[in-house]
Amino acid sequence: MNLFDVYPVNDITIVKAQGSYVWDADGVQYLDMYGGHAVISIGHTHPLWVRRIEDQLQKIAFYSNSVHIPLQQELADKLGKVSGKEDYQLFLCNSGAEANENAMKLASFHTGRKKIIAFKKSFHGRTSLAVAATDNPAIVAPVNETDNIIFVPFNDEKALQQAFKENGGEVAAVIVEGIQGVGGINIATDSFLQKIRSLCDEYGAVYIADSVQCGYGRSGKFFSHDYAGVNADIYAMAKGMGNGFPIGGILIAPHIKPKHGMLGTTFGGNHLACAAALAVLEVIESENLIEQSRQRGMYLLNRLKSINGINNVRGRGLMIGFDVPEEIKDLRKNLLTKYQIFTGEAKPNVIRLLPSLAITRKQVDEFIELLQEEIESLKPKQEAVAEEQ
Ligand SMILES: Cc1ncc(COP(=O)(O)O)c(C=O)c1O
Repeated sequence: MNLFDVYPVNDITIVKAQGSYVWDADGVQYLDMYGGHAVISIGHTHPLWVRRIEDQLQKIAFYSNSVHIPLQQELADKLGKVSGKEDYQLFLCNSGAEANENAMKLASFHTGRKKIIAFKKSFHGRTSLAVAATDNPAIVAPVNETDNIIFVPFNDEKALQQAFKENGGEVAAVIVEGIQGVGGINIATDSFLQKIRSLCDEYGAVYIADSVQCGYGRSGKFFSHDYAGVNADIYAMAKGMGNGFPIGGILIAPHIKPKHGMLGTTFGGNHLACAAALAVLEVIESENLIEQSRQRGMYLLNRLKSINGINNVRGRGLMIGFDVPEEIKDLRKNLLTKYQIFTGEAKPNVIRLLPSLAITRKQVDEFIELLQEEIESLKPKQEAVAEEQ
């Protein structure tokens, strides 16, 4: 049987991982500045995370949500404490798309309305409503097309105000990434998020903070929306939540009331996933990883800003991007093939850095040194080629 060929893959087989390094089948070591797409929060194969999952596996891996699962309450308590949203309610699912799908569905149930405001360059996942709210027609199947989504330019307060003016009574929710990831590391301004909050209050709409990529401490605060000093009504989470164990969830403000049957999932909140997620929060707390992400991110950002040859370095915490000029466009490919460094990308020319929150200063220095070396080696070569032509 063939695998359904939807992923453009690197010709590399990773067989082992530890902290911020991974190793291929030939024993070659790679520095992971990509975190498996922002998933690795506390570091690959963290010993406490491994032990928690192993211990749980010996007891029970799964039973459905038809019985009490005390680990879910333990997770909710810990999440409330670490995120500071102690009065919120937790619904658990399995992925980022599912978290957003449930968030928007819940907003629609809550308000009795149909329209969702989303933003240009957004990415919210690939399930039906999540992909409809994603600004990429190439991944929206005909069956997902809907006129219930209103796209507004990101960080454009006037356009947002206008959209509310025209559709306010029908708007169930605004869904927004605090820092757009797939869209190329675009930071929502504090004033934009504050505007979303005030317009949602004015029109009775639900503010959904898609924190799947920018949440869980990655930005240097638990939720990047916290920088704006506002509370969302629903926070969608996944990626870093399980450090690679599949788990997602939404945090729901107290004024949104549950009803039996309104949301549900077979696997969401299973014992094993809760054990993994609890281990992640324990390590985030004990190793002070949110503050570490803030400080190390600032260090990385400043070092990147001092490099000649790359443009528009931006980001918060350990969610950083920069533009790669056309003349050194092979940079990302060469970092992987020549220097064994994984980085992320955003089309057309952005390198995205999403390392583990536990990356060391030495590893950051190692990255910067090799990045500089490759930029230098690419510059003259491509200039020489240009001259020859
Ligand atoms: C902001 C954001 N939301 C949602 C998703 C979808 O998450 P998943 O792939 O777990 O469904 C992603 C994935 O990249 C994301 O970056």
